[in-house]
Amino acid sequence: MGFFELNHITNVFGISGLLQVISLFGLLLLLSKAAQYYLHRQWLLKCLEQFPSTPSHWLFGNLIKDQDLQQTLLWVEKFPTTCSKWFWGNNPSVMIYDPDYMKLILGRSDPKPIKSYGFFVPWIGYGLLLLEGKKWFQHRRMLTPAFHYDILKPYVGIMADSVHVMLDKWEQLAGQDSPLEICQHVSLMTMETIMKCAFSYQGSVQLNDCGNFRSYVEAVEELTHRVHSRARTAFHQSNIIYNLSSSGRAFHRACRVAHEHTDRMISMRKAELENEGELEKVKKKRRLDFLDILLLAKMQDGKSLSDEDLRAEVDTFMFEGHDTTASGLSWIFYALATHPEHQQRCREEVQSILGDGTAVTWDHLDQMPYTTMCIKEALRLYPPVPAIARELSTPVTFPDGRSLPKGFMVSLSFYGLHHNPRLWPNPEVFDPSRFAPNAARHSHAFLPFSGGARNCIGKQFAMNELKVAVALTLLRFELLSDPTRVPVLVQRSVLKSKNGIYLRLKKLK
Ligand code: HEM
Ligand SMILES: *[C@@H]1O[C@H](CO)[C@@H](O)[C@H](O)[C@H]1NC(C)=O
Repeated sequence: MGFFELNHITNVFGISGLLQVISLFGLLLLLSKAAQYYLHRQWLLKCLEQFPSTPSHWLFGNLIKDQDLQQTLLWVEKFPTTCSKWFWGNNPSVMIYDPDYMKLILGRSDPKPIKSYGFFVPWIGYGLLLLEGKKWFQHRRMLTPAFHYDILKPYVGIMADSVHVMLDKWEQLAGQDSPLEICQHVSLMTMETIMKCAFSYQGSVQLNDCGNFRSYVEAVEELTHRVHSRARTAFHQSNIIYNLSSSGRAFHRACRVAHEHTDRMISMRKAELENEGELEKVKKKRRLDFLDILLLAKMQDGKSLSDEDLRAEVDTFMFEGHDTTASGLSWIFYALATHPEHQQRCREEVQSILGDGTAVTWDHLDQMPYTTMCIKEALRLYPPVPAIARELSTPVTFPDGRSLPKGFMVSLSFYGLHHNPRLWPNPEVFDPSRFAPNAARHSHAFLPFSGGARNCIGKQFAMNELKVAVALTLLRFELLSDPTRVPVLVQRSVLKSKNGIYLRLKKLK
């Protein structure tokens, strides 16, 4: 509006009149927004009539900070198969924990919701975890050979070496007889494993130069926490506001630390491949590792993989490849420490096949049935990825006839599924016999690695690492719990303990 017109209007209405008109418009706008909000909420409540829940605040939802898992247990008990949860405002999600519901949703191809997964983007970009559609399919096909068993086989030796480095450190520390917080050690160990296996890294992660890696591991801790809580905070939805908040600043700071680390890894490997000898060596390999596949795809046909794509895949695998496995292993150690009788039975099994354990190989891994049962039972009680989510791309009708329209968010609670008393009697009891070879169960009752087309690509890799680590650890240490420090479960994208996991380690003769 030009100065002249403004002048003209003020002449007609006078200054105060103009202000009145403006505030009237403002008020009308606000009222119409409020009415829209109200009507949308009524519609949501109608859709969710058949999906009961505890009362929800109109703005703050009904999730209690850091209590997702404890709330899930209450809801699973109270509302069979499903319930609804409200993140904030008009953002509900239908939470499912019934195997037939899981089967139905995992068999469809609904995308991952922007409202939760989107917050990962500034950090891990559009790698395999976040890609959708055709590009996801292309990348999945390109990277699947990196998990072929010919590739995974020699990794067993690398995994064993990383585990021994950790156990050597523990031997130094165990002398002190005070309980040891194990999660940070385990994270550095799984970090070393993924660095050496997938990224052809030659140096040491756990020893001398671990400053760099420790800051990366700490950044990941910060990032998973921030992403998880952002989805639950009404005021952190807008990028502008989030950026101004202290959480947002901490998130971006940690992002920079993580990116510096991955950029360093990429440029190191690129520089190595530029040495002709190395490139020829790689091309002669019968099977390429993860980073080689990406870099060669990039060098041979730069168009198929942009720099951004490459970085996203590296960030994705660096994170997914170590953090979930570290969580899984830490909780397995805790479960074994709190169940000495099962721990001893595993130890005897491992001793019978490995002797002193100096040479663990691929073939040993399927000769430890009892240890495998204990690992699975720990993954049931403590699923490293407690929940995932989808946004319905078409309406869905559940097996019992209830239905939801397109656009709704569904959260698949693996934690709820694994603690569902209708599937797992006395769900809180650690009982490895649930996974005995002859035990029957629903195909979708146990899903630590999710299921369907978007299941975990690293499942076999992870299971191998867990077996190697458990076997070698039990040969060298007795794990004892510290009853004065019971871990408090908390969901930070990945399952963590709020107060760490403290164990006493007794060196075996
Ligand atoms: C105990 C360890 C692990 C657990 C419990 C686990 C669990 C999962 C789950 C539940 C998903 C589905 C995510 C979703 O739908 O949003 C997933 C996907 C994925 N995981 Fe894992 N994971 C583990 C280890 C690994 C490892 C070691 C790697 C890599 C080396 C890896 C790489 C991935 C990738 C890239 C995806 C996305 C796959 C896709 O969408 O095509 N994971 N994982
Ligand atoms: C928020 O901050 C990050 C990093 O500082 C920046 O990349 C991004 O563009 C910012 N977004 C907005 C909407 O300001």
